[in-house]
Amino acid sequence: MNTEEKLLKIDKIKSGTVIDHLPAGSAPTVLKILGIGSNWESTVAVAMNVASKKGKKDIVKVEGRVLKKEETDKLGLIANKATINIIEDYTVKEKHHVSPAKELAGVLKCMNPKCVTNGKEPIVARFIVENEDPLTLRCAYCERIMEKELIEEQF
Ligand code: CTP
Ligand code: ZN
Repeated sequence: MNTEEKLLKIDKIKSGTVIDHLPAGSAPTVLKILGIGSNWESTVAVAMNVASKKGKKDIVKVEGRVLKKEETDKLGLIANKATINIIEDYTVKEKHHVSPAKELAGVLKCMNPKCVTNGKEPIVARFIVENEDPLTLRCAYCERIMEKELIEEQF
């Protein structure tokens, strides 16, 4: 086989979003963040553990969809080297680098039932990124630490 034949080919998309340079193995979590499950109807291409210049990566291509702020905020927690490419008419119109989250407001709930953010007064929950890998967040109000599994459960 020549090199051309060995390459994994994933169709280019016409319009939508390509999330590239995702950490290897993160694609299922990315689909969860995007709310893409068995009822999703438009075209989605997922590649896991494909070779890239810097080792292995995942790619998620979603036809006909732009990301919401809350979704890019969540991506900042798990994929801080990823790029978000906005595709229009088969060309890359915009390329954004996911910025690593340092803080996160209004996206996740604190797991501490006694936390002021879970009280009657509406206080927006806010977290500080305590550690990037493995991901841990600290509630800015009650200091409760939330680890990767519990964070991803809320995605
Ligand atoms: N892509 C796509 N459909 C298009 C255009 C691009 O699926 N119509 C995908 C490409 O396959 C690639 C990503 O979007 O995975 C970014 O495209 P491009 O910027 O052209 O590629 P690179 O220059 O390799 O990107 P980078 O420098 O970010 O690695
Ligand atoms: Zn709290």
